[in-house]
Amino acid sequence: MLVDIGIAKAFVSKEEFESSYTKCKNALKQVKNKSGAGSEWLGWRDILKKPNDAQLQEIDSFSRSIRTKADIFIICGIGGSYLGAKAVIDALTPHFGCNGPEIIFAGHHMGGRYLKDVLKYIRLPKKDGSSKSVYLNVISKSGSTLETALSFRMIREALEEMYGDEASGRIICTTSKEGGVLNAQIEEKGYRKFIIPNDVGGRFSVLTPVGLIPIAVAGIDIKTLFYGAVSAFNAYEKDAALVLEHAAIRNALHEKGITIDVFSCFEPELTSFGGWIQQLMGESEGKNGKGIFPAIAAFSTDLHSLGQFIQQGKRSLMETFLAVEKPTSNLKVNELDEDYDKLNYLAGELFHEINTKARIGTTEAHKNGNVPIINLSIPSLSAESLGGLIYFFELLTAIFVYSLDINPFNQPGVEDYKKAMYRLLGKD
Ligand code: PA5
Repeated sequence: MLVDIGIAKAFVSKEEFESSYTKCKNALKQVKNKSGAGSEWLGWRDILKKPNDAQLQEIDSFSRSIRTKADIFIICGIGGSYLGAKAVIDALTPHFGCNGPEIIFAGHHMGGRYLKDVLKYIRLPKKDGSSKSVYLNVISKSGSTLETALSFRMIREALEEMYGDEASGRIICTTSKEGGVLNAQIEEKGYRKFIIPNDVGGRFSVLTPVGLIPIAVAGIDIKTLFYGAVSAFNAYEKDAALVLEHAAIRNALHEKGITIDVFSCFEPELTSFGGWIQQLMGESEGKNGKGIFPAIAAFSTDLHSLGQFIQQGKRSLMETFLAVEKPTSNLKVNELDEDYDKLNYLAGELFHEINTKARIGTTEAHKNGNVPIINLSIPSLSAESLGGLIYFFELLTAIFVYSLDINPFNQPGVEDYKKAMYRLLGKD
């Protein structure tokens, strides 16, 4: 993976960058020595330091068996309990007509119409008139998050109606080792349980059963994904210069008043990956009146919506481009005798090349519009590269947030909406 901070670096002085770099080096020490605030939540590094191959194998075999039996696999979770799985699944599975079970997300909001549609859809017979085979993975570390718990409650009832006593064998729970209402149900009903390690917070949990089960059910090679992250871990333990440079320029730009980081990608497959980055960074850094708000742009689509603002609007934003080096497809532009649209000049060009030119052109334009830009690239859209990218962003987040003197691993502000909501709902 490559990180180029050249354009962004021109927006800060040498001294400013060096001072930020020193802060980030100290932050890295805090991560490594487990000496910073919230250090009891650094288990996302330990799982890569000592990979648990037996558990990977268990998850892989279990998920493969579900994949052969399920027509529909429902992933019920919110925030860190579903965004990592969605990021990897959307990046690596076909846009239309996948081979395995259809993946449906639930429990990530409280929209009644969506849930009603899910409940109706799973009950609809298949084209041949037989009923669908539905499996449900409810993922909640606390077991009590309202969005997830409400959806689970409704879908569980539907599965019990559809399958009677067999419903229990179709429900998989990923939750904390002990405590919480979900664990009480697991004991009572005998659901299959996978444990979220206590020292791994939700948004850092994609490489635990939280993300690995759904990703494997979607047909993705989780061992390659996981070991992509392990390789990145080993590489950055030896030399973290790439991550430090990125964190340092972000720190220096934060000091200079940058308030928004637009994560921009020209590959639509990586839009959900941006959603995972957004939550990872947003929930970790947005505290004590500090942080850079993580926004996502899917280009070139959003060049026709957000592009104007990025080019000429208020200058308080930076941009992080994420590129994929190897073409994501070999599709070329066709040559037509009737060149009505005058596009024959592009005939024979790979769409990947056209998209790349659009990216380089956009970088040039936004640079001229005074936007500090960081360019990241991964070698290919593969499980291995994504594993490495996941660890890169986890480490970057921890270092950058520590460099701001903030605990990256809690989210006290999230409680405020919950308190207000529960009061309005009349909860004791
Ligand atoms: O990163 C986090 O900790 C949060 O985003 C949680 O993942 C999210 O709130 C869901 O929590 P839970 O898994 O307890 O339902």
